[in-house]
Amino acid sequence: MRHLLSTEDLSLSDAIRILDTAEEMAAVGEREVKKLPTLRGRTVVNLFFEDSTRTRISFEAAAKRLSADVINFAAKGSSVSKGESLKDTAQTLSAMGADAVVIRHWASGAPHRLAATDWIDAAVINAGDGTHEHPTQALLDAFTMRRHWSKLAGIPSAGAGLLGMRVAIAGDVLHSRVARSNVWLLRTLGAEVTLVAPPTLLPIGVDKWPCRVSYDLDETLARGVDAMMMLRVQGERMNASFFPTTREYSRRWGFDDTRLRTLDTLGLKDTIIMHPGPMNRGLEISAAAADSPRSTVLAQVRNGVSIRMAVLYLLLSGDSRGPAGTSKASPTTVTKESH
Ligand code: NCD
Repeated sequence: MRHLLSTEDLSLSDAIRILDTAEEMAAVGEREVKKLPTLRGRTVVNLFFEDSTRTRISFEAAAKRLSADVINFAAKGSSVSKGESLKDTAQTLSAMGADAVVIRHWASGAPHRLAATDWIDAAVINAGDGTHEHPTQALLDAFTMRRHWSKLAGIPSAGAGLLGMRVAIAGDVLHSRVARSNVWLLRTLGAEVTLVAPPTLLPIGVDKWPCRVSYDLDETLARGVDAMMMLRVQGERMNASFFPTTREYSRRWGFDDTRLRTLDTLGLKDTIIMHPGPMNRGLEISAAAADSPRSTVLAQVRNGVSIRMAVLYLLLSGDSRGPAGTSKASPTTVTKESH
């Protein structure tokens, strides 16, 4: 694995390796000294062309816990707003000795472009591209689900997948890179996925995705769900009216207080409620659901740091073309980069 661009092409063994490494990283996070020297002298650049709170901070925390140097580059306030191209920006970062570039971009495919050219020789990590993919979010979601699922089964998480776990993903699928990355990864890990959305918020061609599609949240719950993932209604990507009113949306597609009670009525006592954040409380999720003991929202944020540590470690610590940790970069590279 040289880059992490999508989950669609992530093999089962790579996915399990990332999740297992994240378990080890989580154990480091529980120690008094949370820092590892692993990436000392390496430089990680956070290149964000779109707003972000938790993803950027999470990558920064992950890189710092591995002792890497971190450069935060936000497009706002940089020469990008003067029209500098992705190519010039990438070459500038390359000249500064970036070993990994974590990129979030409003254009679907921008990270792939960066990885496919010779503009830069760094590992590229997709931190969300347009409405396309957000692989580390799907990995942290899978990590959160796996911990829950293996605990229920009474087995250790390490090495396990999500065989038989019923996952429903509800809401604005059309604009969601989180939904796409989750569908591919969850399929690889063996979960059964159902997408639930109004027809206007489903992408064309969704019938060919490896999942069930439903327009009815209550019917989906009644069939049994082990993890209920709510998606944010992405107002900033909507230039038309996709549903009649916000009230109508939350009544039909939101995880409201009534549906929270329904889980108990249906005997679904172990079902977790997930959300990638940022949440529109009262729209796709009620405050009671977001704050209930079933909610994994904060665990997801916590797990995000472990997943990003694992990804940075696997891409940077060894020869990224072979098994992690088998060979190191040449000493000259290290010397040059440590200045
Ligand atoms: C998601 C994103 O940016 O795609 N958020 C995140 O990374 N935590 C989901 C969203 O914005 O709705």
